[in-house]
Amino acid sequence: MLNLTVNGVAHDVEAPADMPLLWVLRDLLGLTGTKFGCGIAQCGACTVHVDGAPLRSCQLPVGTLGSRAVTTIEAIGETPAGARVQRAWLDHEVIQCGYCQSGQIMAAAALLAGTPAPDDADIDAAMSGNICRCGTYVRIREAIKKAAATP
Ligand code: FES
Ligand code: FES
Repeated sequence: MLNLTVNGVAHDVEAPADMPLLWVLRDLLGLTGTKFGCGIAQCGACTVHVDGAPLRSCQLPVGTLGSRAVTTIEAIGETPAGARVQRAWLDHEVIQCGYCQSGQIMAAAALLAGTPAPDDADIDAAMSGNICRCGTYVRIREAIKKAAATP
């Protein structure tokens, strides 16, 4: 039995320690906002925050989390940076098919939480690991800048 704090709620989960966090979130806790893309830490679709840091949940064994807190797309709007990112995403109509967008928003929210006024190089560094097959990159960049400029 593992104890896991997700979105501010403590859960006891029956999962082997080597089960990826993504499986725990989606299959055991029913939090399906976080997506499975590649499964090999290459696309960013499964990005969640662990103590505020953006990590790939598809390659993160749940047993390594310890007491660290997990935040998913379902709760990122409750953080100041996450709320600004989500509002800017809507204003710029960033989303196409949407599959990659949970991960994009989680990466962008982590960027703004740590770097409130990112320049292009900061945005590239933070977002380059998040792949979008629909090519929403230009609007993602605009939306991040909008979110950064929003009080
Ligand atoms: S599904 Fe985790 S990085 Fe692609
Ligand atoms: S919006 Fe379709 S993959 Fe990014």
